[in-house]
Amino acid sequence: MTEGSGDTLTVIDNRTGRTYQLPISHGAIRAADLRQITVADDDFGLMSYDPAFMATASCRSAITFIDGDRGILRYRGYPIEQLAERSTFLEVAYLLMNGELPTKQQLDKFAYLVVHHTFVHENVKKFIDGFHHDAHPMGILVGAVGALSTFYPEAKEFTDPVNRRLQMARLIAKMPTLAALAYRHSRGLPYVYPDNAGNFLNMMWKMSEPRYEPDPTLEHALDVLFILPADHEQNCSTNAMRSVGSSHVDPYSAAAAAVAALYGPLHGGANEQVLRMLREIGSVEQVPAYVARVKDGEFRLMGFGHRVYKNYDPRARVVRQVAETVFKITGLNRLLQVAVELERIALADDYFVAKKLYPNVDFYTGLIYEALGFPVEMFPVLFAIGRTPGWLAQWEESLLDPEQRIARPRQIYLGQPERGYLSLEERGHAESELAEPPDKPFGGD
Ligand code: ACO
Repeated sequence: MTEGSGDTLTVIDNRTGRTYQLPISHGAIRAADLRQITVADDDFGLMSYDPAFMATASCRSAITFIDGDRGILRYRGYPIEQLAERSTFLEVAYLLMNGELPTKQQLDKFAYLVVHHTFVHENVKKFIDGFHHDAHPMGILVGAVGALSTFYPEAKEFTDPVNRRLQMARLIAKMPTLAALAYRHSRGLPYVYPDNAGNFLNMMWKMSEPRYEPDPTLEHALDVLFILPADHEQNCSTNAMRSVGSSHVDPYSAAAAAVAALYGPLHGGANEQVLRMLREIGSVEQVPAYVARVKDGEFRLMGFGHRVYKNYDPRARVVRQVAETVFKITGLNRLLQVAVELERIALADDYFVAKKLYPNVDFYTGLIYEALGFPVEMFPVLFAIGRTPGWLAQWEESLLDPEQRIARPRQIYLGQPERGYLSLEERGHAESELAEPPDKPFGGD
């Protein structure tokens, strides 16, 4: 969009008859410009009300571009399809953080740094030992990532760019280790130390053999599945990372908040729920009845719909290709037919067409993860490994943005006006006086 100096919005306040000109830049007005619109001298000024950020940009960013209507996703200008086909996860992590793909020398240096920070302190193992045997690995990850801040107290000094970059590489390096520790703990298996090559799958699957040798095709498929979610602009968990980071807490604490946000079934936890849903449906014949229940509003179709994509999620397209490659080696996942039928019916159904609900990245990833041998609880953990470079790049961008301050939204207060305190004896609310729960409490992003 091109905008000149004449790009303004004229607002007439019908309460006062006054007219205001608000500049438009990059398709947005500044909400703070609304504050000049007042009705009295002591008026705070007009605010915009936007629960769940439906039409509010919280930052200016140069990292990821999404055109949700056209199904386009680019990191630093590069289409996701090209990165998925030609890059490695580490190259993409470098790209997200630095704005350019690395040269050979830069990549070697970055890989060396990451590889040499994969070990975690022995006390992290003890800490993970304290979790119950059936603890969800995502819960363990939230705790373990947050706990890293106690092992690296110098991470608070993030205004020093060298120190900041060290912590960023450290977290990227340790996420797979923490993920594997969480898995091994849940299975009661001995922990496997990083060995700095083909690392993650060895830490996951090694048993009595000296080293687990992954199938290179499957290893590559997993690398692609880490690239696809590596960043996605201001999604729920990235917003959490930026928002918590805006208090100038260390990056591990902010990342723990991001992992927690990702855990939710409407966000990164959806891949786990998709597989549970496909298992519940069980067979192709049961798909129409299940879709009918979704349309009746009983529950949502997991892995469908997106706040930004109103077209096919470009990542879902790549995931389908990865699935083909993986299934050639592992054999077909028996739930694939159910998924394909679900997608076919949903894409032809008026309910989904009218609401522009398409499969998102989570719809097929679960089937591949399962074919690769991961239990469903690990699916959001795998997503978290992939998203970590994006969280960190966005965190750093936000810290370096002179316009950013502590994230602190306004509210519209609808509660009681001032009133006098009631002693215990004076209180006596009838049940009916207490607030009713809202009609639709569980919608949204
Ligand atoms: N199944 C059925 N109906 C749906 C679905 C779905 N998966 N998603 C949205 N809708 C309906 C809503 O009921 C709503 O209908 P209404 O207008 O009649 O009330 C309409 O479509 C718009 O939905 P919203 O909830 O307003 O859309 P929003 O942008 O807030 O939510 C979200 C996006 C959370 C992703 C939603 O589509 C959803 O719950 N999907 C299922 C969970 C999922 O797959 N999440 C992963 C997203 S990708 C990621 O985070 C990595």
